[in-house]
Amino acid sequence: MSASTISRQFARAALRTGARNTFATSSRQAFRQSGRRAYSSEPPKQSSSSPLLYIAAAAAAAAGGYYAFTQSSTPKVFVPTKDDYQKVYNEIAGRLEEKDDYDDGSYGPVLVRLAWHASGTYDKETKTGGSNGATMRFAPESDHGANAGLKHARDFLEPVKAKFPWITYSDLWTLAGVCALQEMQGPVIPWRPGRADGDVAACTPDGRLPDASKGASHLRDIFYRMGFNDQEIVALAGAHALGRCHTDRSGFDGPWTFSPTVLTNDYFTLLLSEKWSYRKWDGPQQFQDKGKTLMMLPADIALIQDKAMKPWVQKYAADNDAFFKDFSAVIVKLFELGVPFKEGTEPIAFKPTNA
Ligand code: HEM
Repeated sequence: MSASTISRQFARAALRTGARNTFATSSRQAFRQSGRRAYSSEPPKQSSSSPLLYIAAAAAAAAGGYYAFTQSSTPKVFVPTKDDYQKVYNEIAGRLEEKDDYDDGSYGPVLVRLAWHASGTYDKETKTGGSNGATMRFAPESDHGANAGLKHARDFLEPVKAKFPWITYSDLWTLAGVCALQEMQGPVIPWRPGRADGDVAACTPDGRLPDASKGASHLRDIFYRMGFNDQEIVALAGAHALGRCHTDRSGFDGPWTFSPTVLTNDYFTLLLSEKWSYRKWDGPQQFQDKGKTLMMLPADIALIQDKAMKPWVQKYAADNDAFFKDFSAVIVKLFELGVPFKEGTEPIAFKPTNA
């Protein structure tokens, strides 16, 4: 990459980050102020241990509500509103802003990876897996090699779950993925609530997520199983504009783009514009750019080696709006795989904190 291209890339990232910070400061203050008000979703007081009440609680949870224990032990179902979900969103966004001492300055990418790995276990034939259940809370799924490092994301969300105990982990993880993508300058991603947490018996077998060392036919095996097509595979892979590989997790190393905390179509432009060569190192086979700053996985390079997929890479490289539109649609589909929504569940378009 020429020096001018590099500085253009950095300038682009800096511009976006600058714009973000200006807006984020005021919204953070607004968030803190609103934090002083009492939430309708404050933790319930657990003042009863009656089995009957727990049964009522389970029934309420199954119906999408949350059973709130009151001092008088009168059963009261808490049904969260759009505003309650926006409060969860704001809480996650606030934590993203505050906890900026992680990785490249944001937990955003690892939250996106958590939501994707929770959802990407779906099998359309058996209708198993998917974000409904949040079974990655349990071993063996949490110990699957593909999920290495995702404890950071799950732990990051624990205080949010403690503050809003009525939300299921399965809803929380996907909502956090949406929040992270929007807060990292991505498109609006409509989100619907309604996932219920499963137990350990619902854990999916190992091997349902893609193997980064493999090529296009493997990607098709994995993503067609979930119900995606070639265009959708390419659009989804654009998430690799974000974050990085870690040697202590996947074994691979480095970021895909120069702005790993801002969602752009840079993953596609770099795939096409860089000269990618094998990195000479002790680790697994991966590719590096001429400047040895960036990386691509064999599964990323497969997208430009495959005749049917490459045109989509070219389209998204040329048109960021087209990428954002298709990316939003395919993320909605991914996060909703296998979720039994109640009829009439309306999507929520969360307001980004920098809007
Ligand atoms: C196409 C098949 C895919 C393969 C083979 C793949 C593989 C990988 C690997 C090996 C890592 C590095 C993990 C680490 O060492 O921390 C990674 C990270 C990541 N992946 Fe993928 N991935 C794929 C698809 C996706 C999809 C569909 C999404 C989201 C829509 C996604 C989002 C991410 C993000 C955001 C990271 C960065 C995480 C971080 O910085 O901690 N990936 N991926």
